[in-house]
Amino acid sequence: MHKYYNNFFGRFGGRYVAEILHTPLDELETAYREAIIDKQFQEQFALGARDYIGRPTPLLYAKNSTEKIGGAHIYIKLEGLANTGAHKINNALGQGLLAKRMGKTRIIAETGAGQHGFAAAAMCAKLGLECRVYMGEVDMARQRPNVFWMELFGAEVVPVKSGSRTLKDAVNEALRDWASSFPTTHYLLGSALGPSPYPDMVREFQSIIGREVEAEIDKQGLNVEALIACVGGGSNSIGFFYPYLEKTKPRLIGAEAGGRGKGPGEHAARMTGLAKTGIVQGYKSHFLLDEDGQVLPTHSISAGLDYPGIGPQLAFLGSSGRIEFIEVSDKEALDAVRFFAEHEGIVFALESAHAGALALKIAKQYPEDKTIIVNMSGRGDKDLFILAKAIDKETWFSFLKREVE
Ligand SMILES: Cc1ncc(COP(=O)(O)O)c(C=O)c1O
Repeated sequence: MHKYYNNFFGRFGGRYVAEILHTPLDELETAYREAIIDKQFQEQFALGARDYIGRPTPLLYAKNSTEKIGGAHIYIKLEGLANTGAHKINNALGQGLLAKRMGKTRIIAETGAGQHGFAAAAMCAKLGLECRVYMGEVDMARQRPNVFWMELFGAEVVPVKSGSRTLKDAVNEALRDWASSFPTTHYLLGSALGPSPYPDMVREFQSIIGREVEAEIDKQGLNVEALIACVGGGSNSIGFFYPYLEKTKPRLIGAEAGGRGKGPGEHAARMTGLAKTGIVQGYKSHFLLDEDGQVLPTHSISAGLDYPGIGPQLAFLGSSGRIEFIEVSDKEALDAVRFFAEHEGIVFALESAHAGALALKIAKQYPEDKTIIVNMSGRGDKDLFILAKAIDKETWFSFLKREVE
């Protein structure tokens, strides 16, 4: 069902790039196909995953939440306990090891919210690679703490001043750099999207999440009805769902950013009927586009879910009906952060809280002998400024004021 043929997932995917980029993409595809079946590479990845990332991440039974909500048992995959605080590091490690194997000495990456840039910079420090992260000027202003961490790891963070000065412009800038630097440089793309082989390769590195969950389900004999993950570009969800893509059960549910309304610029829901098929940033998928095919602005309270497109494999599996997509509003996500903090002592990242909110709704649909599992793709430390402002603005502002003084 998820078969990848000639660079496409059904009619989605492909490689729509300038001629010059075919050379590094071909080189990358060959190196990746060799590495992924090479025992030594697999061992290197497994060791890094264990000792550097801290895998396997736990699968927690959310007992208090289950009792409070009623219905199916709720389990949470605590991916946010991975080093650097989110799943992004799985892919950064995989591509970092691959880059070294290819003899590259320099990494470039794009980042929006900063989580992927954070993971890329950390991995480069660990593996001794030079690192440059492209980040829109607007995002740099919004996500100053992540810029600070990236620089602490020794990365150069380059402000992107073109277009809307956000993530898609950072991707364009990274591709421009790569076109002239590929003999020494690897482009570390952060989600399961972009030109082939990125969607396939990123899913492969992130499938470690799903493989661990599958092993736990088998070990504990869990009767799982649904897996739920948030969907930005699609890397945590496709990795989490991976072992079940070709099966008919359990239900696989993607939570999209419903934002604060249905109008253009108010949300980032690409699979619930509002997006169009298009070709953007080197691949064919569902995108939020205007009448003329221009990319529309988006909004989400979580910076990691406001990308206007979606990975091609998810677009395909959504069209075929294997994966369901449901919108979750900013408010529902915020409420879910508070709910899990109060009942489980866990702070979900705002992105992951979209999936958490759906889990709270869906659990009630099932009897008590069933289980649903939600992927907490990241933890919410990075959202301190947004959460504190939304939950207790006055106290937070007076604290900040005192700090500045
Ligand atoms: C914690 C977290 N979850 C999810 C996402 C969304 O990305 P993806 O859909 O590739 O998993 C991000 C992106 O920055 C993130 O930081």
